[in-house]
Amino acid sequence: MARKRVAILISGRGSNMSALIGAAKAPDYPAEIVLVLSNRPDAGGLAVAQAEGIATAVVDHKQFGKDREAFERAVQAQLEAYRIDIVCLAGFMRILTPWIIGRWPDRMLNIHPALLPAFKGLHTHERALADGATEHGATVHVVVPEMDSGPIVAQGKVPVLPGDDAAALAARVLAVEHIIYPLALRLIADGRVRVAGACCTVDGPLSPGEAIYIPA
Ligand code: GAR
Repeated sequence: MARKRVAILISGRGSNMSALIGAAKAPDYPAEIVLVLSNRPDAGGLAVAQAEGIATAVVDHKQFGKDREAFERAVQAQLEAYRIDIVCLAGFMRILTPWIIGRWPDRMLNIHPALLPAFKGLHTHERALADGATEHGATVHVVVPEMDSGPIVAQGKVPVLPGDDAAALAARVLAVEHIIYPLALRLIADGRVRVAGACCTVDGPLSPGEAIYIPA
């Protein structure tokens, strides 16, 4: 089966992008990363992608003022030019409108640094600590118009340890993000994920590692 053509959208350093690029080097991985697009010209991940020989594009949201849809039309034009099948948001810090989300039904993924539906939005690690959470983690979900709310494809949990600050917790969660995003993209690209309303089901038996808990 032809490998699915994937674009990764970033705004920053792109460590999740790197995890996806690394996973896609495996000959049996069902997706290839053909484009990395950033809304910020200074995103560190752009140079990393270029060094990997991957095409990059910048669509600077500041050029579009308050016109979110004009920004998104420019992003969509790039995605179409590269004949993209699946879009992965990876630290892409722009809220997308229903206009572009509607063009990628069940084909746009996002990673969020919390165990959704807990801690939607920003500053998730600080909020988990302030709430006294004993477990925290990350979620890959299908993007729907409501922020951080789409059907969940994969989650990874970590414990919250005594003495954790937000940076320590973020680092523990990030390690899990780098495992679950390549896993979730594999499941989607293989066509094993069925989205039914608010839920996803996965066809076929789960391999070891597809349900993840990483202990301390
Ligand atoms: C990651 O922790 C990702 O989950 C988070 O930004 C970080 C990006 O890091 N995303 C969000 O907060 C989205 N709301 P990275 O650039 O190293 O992948």
